[in-house]
Amino acid sequence: MRWKLLKLMMMSWVLIRLRPQLESEVVIIMGKEAGLFVPSGTMGNLISVLVHCDIRGSEVILRDNSHIRVYGNGGISTIGGVHPRPVKNNDDGTMDINSIKATIRDPRGEIVYPTTRLGCLENSHANTRGRGLSVEYINKVGELAKKHGLKLHVDGARIFNSSARVLEKIFEARN
Ligand SMILES: Cc1ncc(COP(=O)(O)O)c(C=O)c1O
Repeated sequence: MRWKLLKLMMMSWVLIRLRPQLESEVVIIMGKEAGLFVPSGTMGNLISVLVHCDIRGSEVILRDNSHIRVYGNGGISTIGGVHPRPVKNNDDGTMDINSIKATIRDPRGEIVYPTTRLGCLENSHANTRGRGLSVEYINKVGELAKKHGLKLHVDGARIFNSSARVLEKIFEARN
């Protein structure tokens, strides 16, 4: 018991010391304004969904077998009051753009429907054999989200696997 406690204290100390460095390095790598260290992917997803859907009864569009929908104990609903609206997952890890479009709620119906506030992608894709999404596809979904005033969250628990595949393709094309 004492040994476990000591191990936990040592791990916490290392993380506290490393956190600022991890956050500032990820800002450079990802080209973002700021970074926030979270100890798990589940926590990162939950924070992101709750930040974007800060009104209870918001709706999030995501893949039917996405990590956020299938796992995490339904946290976005039970903790955040956010309604998941699944779209069929294609074999390459995408959702059809037209299906996403058709799923966005008309805000005039908010007296009876939840309000769509967020779209979620997962890159790479745990439940589709780790398939990565193309930059073109992500941009297309981003444009659609922007057009409808929605936020877009990318579950990037495995984002570096995906970027490694993109780099591999660039090198393959060069050779
Ligand atoms: C795509 C994706 N999101 C979220 C998670 C959850 O990450 P964690 O186990 O660190 O909570 C995983 C874990 O496998 C994942 O593959």
